[in-house]
Amino acid sequence: MGAGNEEIDAVRLETDRLILRDVVPGDVDGFHAYMADPAYIRHLPLDPIDRVEVQAMVDRVLLRQGPGPRGRYFLAAVERGSGRLIGEAIFKRLSDVEGEIGWAVAGPDQRQGLATEIGRALANFGFGDLRLHRLIARSEIGNHASERIMAKLGMVREGVLREHLFARGRWWASAQWSMLASDPHPPAPAKCG
Ligand SMILES: CC(C)(COP(=O)(O)OP(=O)(O)OC[C@H]1O[C@@H](n2cnc3c(N)ncnc32)[C@H](O)[C@@H]1OP(=O)(O)O)[C@@H](O)C(=O)NCCC(=O)NCCS
Repeated sequence: MGAGNEEIDAVRLETDRLILRDVVPGDVDGFHAYMADPAYIRHLPLDPIDRVEVQAMVDRVLLRQGPGPRGRYFLAAVERGSGRLIGEAIFKRLSDVEGEIGWAVAGPDQRQGLATEIGRALANFGFGDLRLHRLIARSEIGNHASERIMAKLGMVREGVLREHLFARGRWWASAQWSMLASDPHPPAPAKCG
C-alpha cells in the first residue's frame, strides 16, 4: 500500500510536448478560450461556462494552491517553449491510497495525443510523487476519446456507473476505469520539480 502522505506544494510535471503547472491569474483568458466552446462540456456534467465563471474557478484554484495538503490539483497544460495554454490536467485525491485523474484539451489542439500525454503524466504523479496504490478515471458513456485514452494508459474498465448523477436535465452514466501501482505497464516517469 502506498504511504500516500507526501504532499507537493508547487506542481510542475513535464511531458514530451507539455508542461503541466499550477494555475496563475493570467490563465483566465486561456481557459475561457476553450471552456466556453459547447463541445467542451458535451460529455461533462456542467452548465455552459462564461468568463465570469472561469474567473471564479481560477480564483478558487489559486486559493487551493497554497502550501499544505491538497485534495485536488487543477493544473494548466501549456505547450513547452511557447507556454501557450492548451488544456487542463485534474488530479483528485480520493483517499490515502486512491486518486482520480482527468483531462481536457482545447478543440484546435485535439487528436494529437496531447490528452494521452496529460494522462500519463498524471498517472506518474499519482503513483510516483503521491505514492498512491490505485487510480481511477471516469467518463460519460459515449466519450470515446476519453475511454480510448484510459485504455492507452493501461487502465482496466471496471464497469458502468448507471445514472449516477443528474445534470443539465438528464441522468448521466459513466464508465469507470482503474490502474494499480502494481499493474504491468507503468508509464515512463514524469519529472516533477
Ligand atoms: C477527450 C479529450 C480530452 C481528448 O483529447 P485529445 O488530445 O484529442 O486526445 P488524444 O489525441 O490523446 O487521443 C486519444 C485517443 O482518442 C481518439 N480520439 C480523439 N478524439 C476523438 C473523437 N472525437 N472521437 C473518437 N476518438 C477520438 C484518438 O484518435 C486517440 O486514439 P488513437 O491513439 O487510437 O488514435 C478532448 O476531446 C476533450 O478535451 N474533450 C472535452 C473535455 C472532456 O470530455 N474531457 C474528458 C472528461 S472524462
